[in-house]
Amino acid sequence: MPGYNALAEVYEWLISDAKLAPAEFAATFDDVLSLLPPNAQVLDCSCGTGQLAVGLAGRGLQVAATDASEAMVRRTAELSEEFRASVRTVRADWEELPDHFADDSFDMVFCVGNSLHHAEGARGRLAALEAMSRLLRPGGRLVLTSRTWELVRARGSRLDISDRLVRRNGRDAVVVYRWEIAPNWEDEHHIEIAIAQVDAAGPVLARSEVLSCWPYRYDELEAELHRVGLRTETNTFNPDAENYMVVASKI
Ligand SMILES: C[S@@+](CC[C@H](N)C(=O)[O-])C[C@H]1O[C@@H](n2cnc3c(N)ncnc32)[C@H](O)[C@@H]1O
Repeated sequence: MPGYNALAEVYEWLISDAKLAPAEFAATFDDVLSLLPPNAQVLDCSCGTGQLAVGLAGRGLQVAATDASEAMVRRTAELSEEFRASVRTVRADWEELPDHFADDSFDMVFCVGNSLHHAEGARGRLAALEAMSRLLRPGGRLVLTSRTWELVRARGSRLDISDRLVRRNGRDAVVVYRWEIAPNWEDEHHIEIAIAQVDAAGPVLARSEVLSCWPYRYDELEAELHRVGLRTETNTFNPDAENYMVVASKI
């Protein structure tokens, strides 16, 4: 996961204000969290820099956090230490999850924040969802958030440049997303992310990475969830909204 290993250092400039504080990030999932029994076992399987995992641990849940990127897992472990939160961290690609955790062992698995599109095509996505499903106990739930790729593809290739400086750790940055939309849905697409830290008194510190992704339509995702034994309970899919959430339970 070379792209995310490099981005891990500057990832806070990419996180929205609302996701920076662990407790606030976890609170965005209040509705599904209210369905959990006390001391439930939960997994964040694309934990990034760990805000959600740490927020979930702060609620008294038993939390495991995994990510394909070693640097992201390290940052999650550091954040857990900073908040004195108990989070088990493991570096694992989605397909490797069953090597680290027993089947039927989690009450809830989170795959949030535009992560699933990094699975390689329909085959990779199905393998990733299959692994997540295996780890859920019957009745357990997968909570997935996603970009609305129907909308992203309709806009075509383009540049998105932040219209204000993003301030983190006392430094301002301009954030640029360059979207490379391939002709067909099933083709590999690219998102280049550039973070330029600017300071009138010093040089511009720039970091940019090109990430690969494989988009999917909501209908495809729903069919794939079904194929791996998950039944959609709720979804907020709206073709005109930027993101949606799906909650699917293991049959
Ligand atoms: C856009 S970030 C989202 C991080 C976090 N969930 C959030 O909301 O801030 C996508 C994350 O998915 C991880 N990722 C990408 N491909 C993965 C894979 N095959 N298996 C597990 N994690 C993966 C990346 O390393 C990265 O941390």
